[in-house]
Amino acid sequence: MSEKRNAIYIRWMIRRDMPEIMDIEDDSFEFPWRLGDEKEGRPPKGSFLAILSERNAIGMVAEIDGRIAGYMVYVLGESRIELLNFAVRRDVRRRGIGRAMIDKLRATLSRRCGKWLVVFTDENNLPAQLFFRAVGMRATGIEIGSWPKEGRNAIRFVCRSREPAAVKEALS
Ligand SMILES: CC(C)(COP(=O)(O)OP(=O)(O)OC[C@H]1O[C@@H](n2cnc3c(N)ncnc32)[C@H](O)[C@@H]1OP(=O)(O)O)[C@@H](O)C(=O)NCCC(=O)NCCS
Repeated sequence: MSEKRNAIYIRWMIRRDMPEIMDIEDDSFEFPWRLGDEKEGRPPKGSFLAILSERNAIGMVAEIDGRIAGYMVYVLGESRIELLNFAVRRDVRRRGIGRAMIDKLRATLSRRCGKWLVVFTDENNLPAQLFFRAVGMRATGIEIGSWPKEGRNAIRFVCRSREPAAVKEALS
């Protein structure tokens, strides 16, 4: 197989991507986000379309061989980027796609000095926790009882561009 054929291409998310994204979302999460399209009336709070219509929200997709292999939705805040949603298609996991997307976000952090990348993950989601650790993020706290749904706890992971010392300092 040629290198080009398997290259990971990361680009902005567009409306046409949504059917493939929704398939991955439904397959990946116990509490998947809804699309929030016109069939549902006004986009419900917390749906893809409602969040992506917010000024600082950004959606990106990773493509392999012309198909959506993964996606991420994040918001640019004053002092941090918060990753709100992040998944890779089940049949192409463990091929470095998740890592490539986090690297892309870290490049955004580098351009915006002093920014932290933050993500919350369900305390029961061990694969995600192992992933965030493997890509250099640190668990720094727990959000009790509200995420991703009432009664569940979430672990907060953070990292800052490519400066492990700064992460250490922030943890102390
Ligand atoms: C978490 C997720 C995005 C990882 O994506 P991915 O493309 O498979 O990750 P990568 O291939 O880049 O993995 C990088 C490293 O993370 C670690 N890792 C990833 N998945 C792992 C798993 N299931 N178990 C243990 N370690 C894992 C490994 O160290 C891996 O490197 P290796 O494959 O060389 O051993 C993917 O499993 C997923 O979509 N899960 C469901 C949705 C989800 O939980 N999203 C996060 C919500 S906050």
